[in-house]
Amino acid sequence: MRLCCVAGVSDTGHTGLEVIQLEVGLLQNFCEVIGCPSTGEAALVDPAFEVDRLLEIVRAKGWTVTTILLTHTHDDHVAGLDEAFAETGAVVRCHPVELAVAGQFASKVEPVGDGEDVAIGRGRMRAIWAPGHTPGCVCWYGPETEALITGDVLFVGSCGGVNYEGSDPAAMLDTLQRKLGSLPEQTRLYPGHDYGKTPTSTLMWEFGNNPALLADTLSSFCTYKRVPVPG
Ligand SMILES: [Fe+2]
Repeated sequence: MRLCCVAGVSDTGHTGLEVIQLEVGLLQNFCEVIGCPSTGEAALVDPAFEVDRLLEIVRAKGWTVTTILLTHTHDDHVAGLDEAFAETGAVVRCHPVELAVAGQFASKVEPVGDGEDVAIGRGRMRAIWAPGHTPGCVCWYGPETEALITGDVLFVGSCGGVNYEGSDPAAMLDTLQRKLGSLPEQTRLYPGHDYGKTPTSTLMWEFGNNPALLADTLSSFCTYKRVPVPG
């Protein structure tokens, strides 16, 4: 279990959130518990496996889960969503195209728009629509927390696959270069899987070292991912 706590306060009055990363299951998945130290409101991200361990952290902190944030609905990111929802009753937030699948696991699912801030106590996590791995991928960015939760979009030292149903290499390239590339370089990356040399890193390190980001044309990106260059 790893902690990141940033106590920044923005001119909007939002404060930094505490991010706790936990590796779960047999597929090197990372889940996060995000909490507001002031109010005790908390969110779970991609509750996939070992939900009891996530809720144990919540209990130990004295927090209350009010929100569940999804990066996308591939099985290995939502396998524990039904249990997490049953235990917390928290509202699930995901991209509109992921609503139908998420709704199979929870009865309170609400869409989130690109750039929309989701409040967690006095803090917030901003939805960044990040298509490419799937059409409805969302990265969750905390402006004051300086944290970015990327699911299967960006890993430490690599990126998610673009050969799934609905994958789009050109959209992935745009997501990586334009959308994630516009965020502050000190932002800490929390990937959806422990596939790198370290569990987390910074965007500065990734843009200097990650071959998925160094391949900044569609041709070089597709060569790196070993997929055909689209049309
Ligand atoms: Fe995935």
